[in-house]
Amino acid sequence: MSSAVEIYKKKTRKSAKIFEKSKKYHVNGVSHNIRFFKPYPFVTRSAKGKTISDVDGNKYTDYWMGHWSLILGHAAPAVASLVKKQLPSCWMHGTVNEMTVQFSDVIQGAVPVAEKIRYVSTGTEATMYAVRTARAFTGKKIIAKIDGGWHGYTTDLLKSVNWPFDQQESLGLADDSHIVSIPYNDLEKSIQILQSVKDDLAGVIIEPVLGGAGCIPATKEYLTGVQEFVHKNNALFLLDEIVTGFRFSFGCLYHSMNLDPDIVTLGKIVGGGFPIGVICGKEDIMKISDTSTHTRFDRSYIGGGTFSANPITMTSGRAMLQFLKKNSGVYKKIGKLGDMARKELEKAFDGKVATTGKGSLFMTHFLTGGMTEIRNASDAAMCNTDLLHRYHFEMIARDGIFFLPGKLGAISHAHSRSDIRHLIQASERFASHM
Ligand SMILES: Cc1ncc(COP(=O)(O)O)c(C=O)c1O
Repeated sequence: MSSAVEIYKKKTRKSAKIFEKSKKYHVNGVSHNIRFFKPYPFVTRSAKGKTISDVDGNKYTDYWMGHWSLILGHAAPAVASLVKKQLPSCWMHGTVNEMTVQFSDVIQGAVPVAEKIRYVSTGTEATMYAVRTARAFTGKKIIAKIDGGWHGYTTDLLKSVNWPFDQQESLGLADDSHIVSIPYNDLEKSIQILQSVKDDLAGVIIEPVLGGAGCIPATKEYLTGVQEFVHKNNALFLLDEIVTGFRFSFGCLYHSMNLDPDIVTLGKIVGGGFPIGVICGKEDIMKISDTSTHTRFDRSYIGGGTFSANPITMTSGRAMLQFLKKNSGVYKKIGKLGDMARKELEKAFDGKVATTGKGSLFMTHFLTGGMTEIRNASDAAMCNTDLLHRYHFEMIARDGIFFLPGKLGAISHAHSRSDIRHLIQASERFASHM
């Protein structure tokens, strides 16, 4: 039998040539580190619905879905039609526009903590502002984050992202001494660490489903316990819902978990596939960034970005949310497909994997040495991640199924039960010779 690499190389010759050129221009050939995989990533020509197509003419059922941002699938007509209508009236002005007001009306209706909102162009900017605002509002400096938590590439939060979590993530991070890291879903240890810094604790930032580090939902007990500690100690509870916002229901996960965050960050889905980050918060906190009432000596700076609140993103975001609001059946449908994927994958691998996730997000972990469950990023890192990469790559090469190797899968409205069945068959084949 030919190896997956041989098959892949044979069917992606044009991609290989273009990627060689790409390496001449771009560091490692890419502009987002995780988009590179060995031996080289295929080069995309187009995408529609559940399918992504490469320049060689191969088609893949896509579970990466634009960094999990495309909950309706690629090029969703509901978004495309409004964006096309907007284009002739201009796509960039750098002045106030009504599309932003209309979009915020939808967000505020679904996300009660969004008493005040600011838009930026990436999730990274949103979390950077969230951290800055927590420090400005509390007058304290320390931010706690989760072991394995990914909030984008901001200097502040580029710490304890990758296992073993206590080593530097990059050169050039001038000052990360005001970040501490706590273990996900371990309330006792987390509180111990928070207790040790409580006098200078400005806030805690958490993803309610740990995304990049293993698609692991936080327990309600954990989130409630951390929130309680934070609020008792005059710090802010920051929830990063850039992945989870509008992913499981029309609104945020915090709302369905009865949590009381001070600031919530959004991104991905709410941009309708165009660049976005959103910082939403309680009015008394967000007003610290009001330039009409505060000087630069007593305010937090939120609000730069040439492309912030540009008319195209505001239009595409509103189109996406309006569709989801009118079609709440989307969540039921994709949630069921997620349940099916998790259950059937565990069966396909006959106890050798644990699946994690929630609703339409799912991930397969190849268990090692007596492990039975995945509660946090350390558990996920202890699994056989080489095998996970091989599994994903084999499906790209042999089955026309695309997961960004090593990353969680996102099911979109464009996927169906037959896609999940195809995924299970491909997984059974891999399980039979892994
Ligand atoms: C939870 C979370 N926060 C923040 C970010 C950063 O968003 P962006 O890549 O748009 O800067 C990401 C991106 O994957 C994310 O998953």
